[in-house]
Amino acid sequence: MRRSLLALSRSASVKRLATTAPGIAGVVNRFAAGETTESAVEATRELIAAGLLVSLDHLGEDTLDRAQATATRDAYLELLGRLGDEGLAAAAEVSVKLSAVGQSLAHGGPEFATDNARAICEAARSVGTTVTLDMEDHTTTDWTLSTLHELRQDFPTTGAVLQAYLHRTEDDCRALSTPGSRVRLCKGAYKEPETVAFQDRSDVDRSYVRCLKILLAGPCYPMVATHDSRLISIAEALTVRHGREKGGYEFQMLYGVRRDEQRRLAAAGEKVRIYVPYGSEWYGYLVRRMAERPANLALGVRAMLGRD
Ligand code: FDA
Repeated sequence: MRRSLLALSRSASVKRLATTAPGIAGVVNRFAAGETTESAVEATRELIAAGLLVSLDHLGEDTLDRAQATATRDAYLELLGRLGDEGLAAAAEVSVKLSAVGQSLAHGGPEFATDNARAICEAARSVGTTVTLDMEDHTTTDWTLSTLHELRQDFPTTGAVLQAYLHRTEDDCRALSTPGSRVRLCKGAYKEPETVAFQDRSDVDRSYVRCLKILLAGPCYPMVATHDSRLISIAEALTVRHGREKGGYEFQMLYGVRRDEQRRLAAAGEKVRIYVPYGSEWYGYLVRRMAERPANLALGVRAMLGRD
């Protein structure tokens, strides 16, 4: 089921059907903070008031249109300007998918995306915040990491994302475990072949723990991105074992997912950052969230049948 849904996350025809379905807006609003910069700023303000940190993602991925990639870059620039004006930038950064800013374009895509990401990093620095490069499917991992290294020459706080389901990730954790290096560890959300990724959930969880141990033992700044209670408990125990002060790492969760746990951790004095997607290109993001939890799929199907 999970693998079929992940395949659908890239289907143009299903996308057309889903995005026009009656009632789908209710499901989208559960996982995304509206379509506009204003709605993203409003959600950010509310989360910060609740003691949480934020990373904003302007939705859109796999862009094959140069103008669309430029528009996405500009949306980030506008958002960062607003975060600065509103005094929210110290607690809110942005997450960027390189495929949304042109990485997949046929001619010179990676270079174009790097230039766009550089402009976003400049804007983030000018208001006092940071950028994290989301990680997409495994065919883009090397490009994304090489863009990260390039950006870090000028913007050393640029964050990386590593996916525990990939066989290579323990090695990548070691390579990125350097002083000041911000590394988000997640399980991984794409449909990947067994040649590159663990298929069994328990193997992914075991890999996550091995990676966590590497990151928490080293000098980097780990960002523990999971809603999995068992992994959160293991992370809490490992931070104590490695003598990590609260604030020397952070937990991260998705907007609308396990809000009780987000607040529990924050109340316990942990830094907790919420990944907040916004914008009109929500299809791929939403289908991945449905793949993660059957109850979300039921919500989506009911909405598509007009019963929501
Ligand atoms: P798992 O999927 O096992 O879920 C554990 C429990 O959490 C579930 O049993 C359920 O209770 C709850 N839960 C999880 N997902 C839910 C959902 N959608 N709705 C409701 N409940 C849910 N991936 C990627 O490939 N590249 C990236 O750049 C990122 N970036 C990223 C940032 C942040 C801040 C987070 C939290 C996650 C990502 N991800 C990601 C997604 C990640 O790879 C993974 O797909 C999801 O986090 C789900 O995995 P869990 O670790 O939560 O475990």
